Amino acid sequence: MIVNTELDQKGNLFPSKVIAFKKDVDTLYFTTENNVVLQLTVFRDSVLRFRYTTTGTFGNDFSYAITKYASKGYNHLQIENENEYYKVITSKLICHISKSDLKVSIFDAKDNTLISQDELGFHWEESYEYGGNIVKMSKVSQKVESYYGLGDKPGHLNLKGKRFENWVTDSYAFGKETDPIYKSIPFYTGLHDGKAYGIFFDNTFRSFFDFAHERRNVTSFWAQGGEMNYYFIYGPKMEDVVVNYTDLTGKPHQLPPLWALGFHQCKWSYYPESKVKEVTKKFRDLKIPCDAIYLDIDYMEGFRCFTWNKEYFPDPKRMVKELADDGFKTVAIIDPGIKFDKDYSIFQEGLKNDYFCKRADGAYMKGKVWPGECYFPDFTKPEVRDWWSGLFQELIEDIGIKGVWIDMNEPAVMEVPNKTFPNDVRHDYDGNPCSHRKAHNIYGMQMARATYHGLKKFSYPKRPFVITRAAYSGTQRYTSTWTGDNLATWEHLWIANVQAQRMAMSGFSFAGSDIGGFAEQPQGELFTRWIQLGIFHPFCRVHSSGDHGDQEPWAFDEDVTDIVRKFIELRYQLLPYLYTAFWNYINEGTPILKSLVLFDQDDVHTHYRTDEFIFGDKILVCPVLEPNAKGRRMYIPNGNWFNFWTDELVKGGKEMWVDADIDSMPIFIKEGAIIPKYPVQQYVGEKNIDEVVLDVYFKKGKEQSKLFDDAHDGYDYKKGRYSLRTFKLTGKSKELIIQQHKEGKYITTYNTFKLNFHGLPFMIESIQFDNVDISLSDVKMNGDNTMIIDKNFAQLHIKGK
Ligand code: GLC
Repeated sequence: MIVNTELDQKGNLFPSKVIAFKKDVDTLYFTTENNVVLQLTVFRDSVLRFRYTTTGTFGNDFSYAITKYASKGYNHLQIENENEYYKVITSKLICHISKSDLKVSIFDAKDNTLISQDELGFHWEESYEYGGNIVKMSKVSQKVESYYGLGDKPGHLNLKGKRFENWVTDSYAFGKETDPIYKSIPFYTGLHDGKAYGIFFDNTFRSFFDFAHERRNVTSFWAQGGEMNYYFIYGPKMEDVVVNYTDLTGKPHQLPPLWALGFHQCKWSYYPESKVKEVTKKFRDLKIPCDAIYLDIDYMEGFRCFTWNKEYFPDPKRMVKELADDGFKTVAIIDPGIKFDKDYSIFQEGLKNDYFCKRADGAYMKGKVWPGECYFPDFTKPEVRDWWSGLFQELIEDIGIKGVWIDMNEPAVMEVPNKTFPNDVRHDYDGNPCSHRKAHNIYGMQMARATYHGLKKFSYPKRPFVITRAAYSGTQRYTSTWTGDNLATWEHLWIANVQAQRMAMSGFSFAGSDIGGFAEQPQGELFTRWIQLGIFHPFCRVHSSGDHGDQEPWAFDEDVTDIVRKFIELRYQLLPYLYTAFWNYINEGTPILKSLVLFDQDDVHTHYRTDEFIFGDKILVCPVLEPNAKGRRMYIPNGNWFNFWTDELVKGGKEMWVDADIDSMPIFIKEGAIIPKYPVQQYVGEKNIDEVVLDVYFKKGKEQSKLFDDAHDGYDYKKGRYSLRTFKLTGKSKELIIQQHKEGKYITTYNTFKLNFHGLPFMIESIQFDNVDISLSDVKMNGDNTMIIDKNFAQLHIKGK
């Protein structure tokens, strides 16, 4: 709630009665007597945009979040002028706009269910201190409504009963209750009456969401400036809400290189060169797969961005090449603060060209970060972004760095109470000059954008890889992310699980935590359990602050090393499965992780679950989150599931105990699934993949699975050189049919599939391959339920006895 100061007692203002209505193609304008205008744009049949002004005119319509690739267009739009309200009808929604007070109610067009209803609706308070308005919206919280989303919030998945703030903040050692933290993703999904809708409040000022916290039957959101500007996104399937939000704010512009889905090792910091080499060599010696090694801030000269400490790293190009020869991609950190140093060329350039942020009265924005006093580029200015992109040429093109890790981009400032810039700092905001109040939440995003463009250019023809800490809605287009400075505690393992799921349902799937915890020292058991969870996160990296003990997979006892190896190997085996999920994500916006509520919203048991999630669309995972556990209770969602370790079939829709000693964790495979697997490699590309294992899980009935493949890097897949295989499985009591549909021009390196059958309820008697009988010996039927067949089969028909 906004608390008025004594001087600012003006209170809430409300729209009065509607006196004019205008329609301009897809946009409707409702004007009230007191100059409020509601601009309602029909984006799609299920996506409506609501934008309000209190002065009769709108400012420039500009958003960093909404992508130009967002789909627009609807099938139906009809306006009816009723006595009390205007009725806006699309093929999915009916929206009432009250003539007396501009309040909005939205209904499902098919069955008239009330989905969203303004309580006070739009109202505002004039901002005495800054000018403009504090813009507010309140809606009725429907009976048993649940709420999800909001990015990286570290508390319970279901947001009901809580209030949150969006203000990107450096939050070292945050806890479950800390709010706000690193990201601002003002998007939530509401679920009631079996139907889900989303609200994306595209306002970059400090904003707040209250989910039936202050008043049990009201949900509200407001911001300390800017416009009331939100998108209403209808499902009714929760997955469609997330998909449509991701369509609006963008999918990653390309697939990551496959290596980026491998295992990453990081620490603050590995230096000098000999230490880096010692770590990478140990991975290879111990045969623990690893694709990326990170250089934290100590690789630089006095923490000056784009420099090298030549004592620690005398010849970075040679080192990076030697690491690359051993399969390691080197990722280097870059922070936004540019050291105040008159002899430092980047500082000089920034100064000369007027690229640094300034205070309202003209002085430079000066703040302390790792290098001491710094100036900060204004990434909201296109010219500055271009300059910044160009700075990566040497690192990428010449030295051969493969990825860039951007950090402290909230922007974080040390030794000041608010941990960031003061409010009066000026920003260009792409030609819409403003104060930091408006630009703060997107500062890190624009740094990510500039960095991404640099990497994209200089890595070409390879794909860029960027990882950021700060983010606003839409940042997923440019980069991956991690959840910031967590702790090596069991509570933080729980938080990491919730955050990765929440990020995925907030359109940002390419996320992970600092595995093992950033601050403090994990015990071997906690590290092991965290690795088990981490291999199921799209971004999988161990990182630690380094001021305690070591945190490499061998830093604990040998049992830990062995279990960690086994799970990282599983990650590498599952790479084609994860890559396929990523393909789905960049094309459809389908989240890579699905919380149970997203998987099955009709089952009310899922609405308050936090621990279990679906990795991709077929693998159910539940991390063990407590010490000394030999297993745990978990909820198995509806459907039949195979225990990954034992092949035992369990029927879902219930909670049950699952054994999972320290060398195991609860993993289940959906019946009917076909899970593709690669052989274990020490790094992506180590082996030529000449055969892919397909783990076929029997089902009486039908199920569809996919396998995507391409060159694992580069852009040829965008020209159709990819291979997408759709498998349709049909199981009967004595029969199993798998049909394959192929798409794309890419010739895969593998020629055969090794089918591995699980749960076949019969003995195989005969096999038909594209309608021709073949002998069991031809398919190398091994007596162990595996067979090898040509990758190009159209139909495999197995009969049993
Ligand atoms: C910040 C980052 C952390 C990094 C450290 C030093 O705390 O969150 O990941 O290691 O800075 O660069």
